[in-house]
Amino acid sequence: MTARRIVLLGPPGSGKGTQAVRLAAWLGVPHISTGDLLRSEVQNRTELGLQAQRFMDRGELVPDALVAEMIRKHIERAPGFVLDGFPRNLRQAEILETVTVVERALHFQIGRNEIVRRLSARRVCPQCGHVYNLISNPPQRDSVCDECHIALVQRSDDTPEVIQRRIEVQYAREIEPILDFYRKRNVLREIDASGDIDSVYRAAQRALE
Ligand code: AP5
Repeated sequence: MTARRIVLLGPPGSGKGTQAVRLAAWLGVPHISTGDLLRSEVQNRTELGLQAQRFMDRGELVPDALVAEMIRKHIERAPGFVLDGFPRNLRQAEILETVTVVERALHFQIGRNEIVRRLSARRVCPQCGHVYNLISNPPQRDSVCDECHIALVQRSDDTPEVIQRRIEVQYAREIEPILDFYRKRNVLREIDASGDIDSVYRAAQRALE
């Protein structure tokens, strides 16, 4: 049977968001991205958004309590989900376990040079949120969204300095205990995320069977 309650783990730029969109459409379940949810709170200038913004701008994790409350609402009644960006530390993995049972955790592996290359060329539509890449996944017209026909923008945390900080603070320091947590539950699958978008997608699909 194909797993339907899935978490995607991996460093920034490993392609979690790109693959989450495809996997969620394939499985017919919602794609839940903590990064997207937080950016929307920031844009709407909510209380949560105002608190979260200073952590995001510095490339640090937003406090667990804020993110956990936000995610709980989306997951509690969902029959399935592709969770992208949560859990980010062991505490978050433990919190998630109190809300649902994760059937597969896919860990996207990729080198630092490729991370920087991908994130420096990432562009996002400010209206529909579609993610492009000027090198590997460009829009049809230069820096303009194919659907909304407006100018694409660069995420404010995609600067070389903040990228390095996100890799160190959010990934390198936190990932091992999370991998152990899911390994012990026999749901962890490693994915080579350095290939092109289609080959990573096929590997992720196989890992859910
Ligand atoms: P978030 O938005 O989750 O950022 P991230 O984890 O750093 O991940 P990214 O969105 O940068 O990368 P991705 O792996 O999704 O890659 P993508 O598919 O876009 O979080 C932002 C911030 O919110 C965090 O810094 C933190 O402050 C806060 N936050 C979020 N969750 C939190 C939590 N749980 N707890 C606390 N704080 C939290 O791909 C990247 C680029 O590469 C794109 O241009 C894409 O087109 C391209 N690409 C993708 N795949 C390939 C491929 N195979 N080959 C070539 N190019 C590719």
